[in-house]
Amino acid sequence: MSYLMENYGRFDYYFERGEGCYLFDKDGKKYLDMLSGIAVNCLGYNHPKLTQAICQQASKIIHISNLFKIEPQEEVAEILVENSIKDGKVFFCNSGAEANEALIKLVRKYFYDKGENRYEIITFEGSFHGRTLAALTATAQPKYHKGFEPLVEGFKYAKFNDIDSVKKLITDKTAAILIEMVQGEGGVNPADRDFIDKLYSLCQEKGLLFCVDEVQTGIGRTGKLFAFQHYNIQPDIFSVAKGLGGGVPIGAIVAKSEVAKSFTPGTHASTFGGNYLSTVAAKVVLEEVLSDGFLKSIEEKGEYLKKRLKETGYPTKGLGLMIGVDLPESISAKKVMEECLKRGLIIGTAGSNTLRFVPPLIISKQEIDLSVEILKGVIDSFIGA
Ligand SMILES: Cc1ncc(COP(=O)(O)O)c(C=O)c1O
Repeated sequence: MSYLMENYGRFDYYFERGEGCYLFDKDGKKYLDMLSGIAVNCLGYNHPKLTQAICQQASKIIHISNLFKIEPQEEVAEILVENSIKDGKVFFCNSGAEANEALIKLVRKYFYDKGENRYEIITFEGSFHGRTLAALTATAQPKYHKGFEPLVEGFKYAKFNDIDSVKKLITDKTAAILIEMVQGEGGVNPADRDFIDKLYSLCQEKGLLFCVDEVQTGIGRTGKLFAFQHYNIQPDIFSVAKGLGGGVPIGAIVAKSEVAKSFTPGTHASTFGGNYLSTVAAKVVLEEVLSDGFLKSIEEKGEYLKKRLKETGYPTKGLGLMIGVDLPESISAKKVMEECLKRGLIIGTAGSNTLRFVPPLIISKQEIDLSVEILKGVIDSFIGA
């Protein structure tokens, strides 16, 4: 009997330790991890610099609260801004949902301060923005809403990659759009370039804030520090989390100063947000991801992974090291994932029947080869069965 709530469909595996891109279970069996804690462990396991920084910081101060200045928090904010929207300001929290919650509140407060009664946010079918009530409402997937109504007021849902569906939803109450440049949980679906160009122009024309959820795509995952940097746009606000702390919980939003100024003292806060431990970790992660050639290597390895996954014969999609493989209905992605686990490979699923690959960003080509060989063996066993 477990004392844990039953809200996760957990696999019956305990992992004891990790090294690089590998995990080891209690019996010492080795698993190649192509899921990295759902796009979190971007530097893999037991990364020397990250482990050392966390241990050193733990021996000094773990947490002190935002009543006081926190040096690594200021440093991480500077790195985030200098490498994204330049005139930005940062708010730190602890998770993706919390970052999006802050983003939504900032949108509302910005228009309130301007004296405009605009609060509606347009999000996209297939999106995922988190599980807190507003982030859940922003998540335009009915399966996640069921049983949690009434939802939060002020969200409308457009079709992903369909500009006309956005235009139809715009009213004098519309404040912002919120989009993932590559939908993660929704099935690893990249936004079309032409769609983003049109959406961005539309936002500028109508005075809407262009907001990007970089929780899964951010921190190098797609081969740029942020996925919006593949497109010709500058978001007004974007959210990050997952990879930012390399496994230590941390989230953030970055907003243009003009927008950020609406978060005045007392308007929004987080007890743990950006504490010493998490920002020391984030600083190491950012320094590594921004080190010479690192982002370029993600792009190359991502192309390689995609090319190799095409050998399965199924459609592959995604950007950088965020790749999905669409399986036919006759093969269950969940069952493939289970069989891969038995054979020492950890992968994920997304959308209705997509396999998801979001490995540590330090993955090597040899490890990519190994993962594809195991996967092909598993798929063959399903086809042969
Ligand atoms: C794009 C996106 N936004 C938000 C979230 C929610 O993040 P968290 O689980 O840290 O609250 C996720 C989580 O999968 C995500 O993929």
